[in-house]
Amino acid sequence: MKCRRCQATAVVALPSHNSAFCAPCFLDFFSRQVARGIETQRLMSKDDRVLVALSGGKDSLALMLELSRQGYDVTGLHIDLAIPGSSRAARTVVERFCQTHGFRLLVKDMAAEGLPIPRVKEVLKRPICSACGKIKRHFFNRIAREQGFTVLATGHNLDDEVARLTSNTLRWDRAYLSDQGPALEDGGGFARKVKPLWRLTEFETANYAFLMGIENHYAPCPYSAGASFSTLKGLWMDLEEAMPGRKMDFYQGFLERGRPAFRAVEEVKGESLRPCARCGCPTSAGVCGVCRIREALAEKQA
Ligand code: AMP
Ligand code: FES
Ligand code: ZN
Repeated sequence: MKCRRCQATAVVALPSHNSAFCAPCFLDFFSRQVARGIETQRLMSKDDRVLVALSGGKDSLALMLELSRQGYDVTGLHIDLAIPGSSRAARTVVERFCQTHGFRLLVKDMAAEGLPIPRVKEVLKRPICSACGKIKRHFFNRIAREQGFTVLATGHNLDDEVARLTSNTLRWDRAYLSDQGPALEDGGGFARKVKPLWRLTEFETANYAFLMGIENHYAPCPYSAGASFSTLKGLWMDLEEAMPGRKMDFYQGFLERGRPAFRAVEEVKGESLRPCARCGCPTSAGVCGVCRIREALAEKQA
């Protein structure tokens, strides 16, 4: 198999792009896809101060490295969830990665915040993943706003986005279908959020991470046995194999034609946001979800 660009021996085959690339041409392809994803959806500019949420997984580390290579002003943010058997390894990987590349890194420690995830899991009756997600988003937003970052970037890739879109479609959730996409505008106390890897699959990001020598964190979260959207991702893997290119067509078609249709009919929610009485973060209730989790923990302690 030969590289489509330079005819050298190919190391990565991409049937959905009807292509195969050698290592340097693949890295160039990856960079162009990230740049195109940022430009076509107007995600951000070189003037932005970008806070990149780093979990320790390959996607967010690849994102950080590539944005820096493209000349963006990036700072990492890691949320240490204090989960035994997983969080320490993730944090070490992120710290080592940032040190190796000379990246600025902020770490927010949930144990020091009084919100270690195992304790939250013990006290709450709801599934921990949704509470954990809420806590992470709360700190992403709060730190971005407090420290003057203009954009918060996450490592979500095309597979994540398509699985989420499929889930929203299966439920015909009009509110989510009118809102999903690679950018969430700021406003109402929320920082602007972007997903610059939306044009790249998990496979492509994994290859980039491998070729760039990124060490990443493999230990999955012990609480999320069925990793997010794993069934839908499996179905899409089969579909993409049978119909190469369909995944990207489906998502791009949604952005161009599906989402505007849902936006046209979805009523603007009268839900007004105001600052949380405890922490000042935007909420539609008097006290935000994270402060309510704090209260539940304090009650159990008393
Ligand atoms: P996940 O929902 O675990 O697939 O993560 C999606 C994205 O959220 C990752 O690519 C990261 O950008 C971000 N993220 C997840 N967990 C953390 C964490 N503990 N600290 C910082 N960012 C995170
Ligand atoms: Fe939050 Fe697993 S990472 S519950
Ligand atoms: Zn609050």
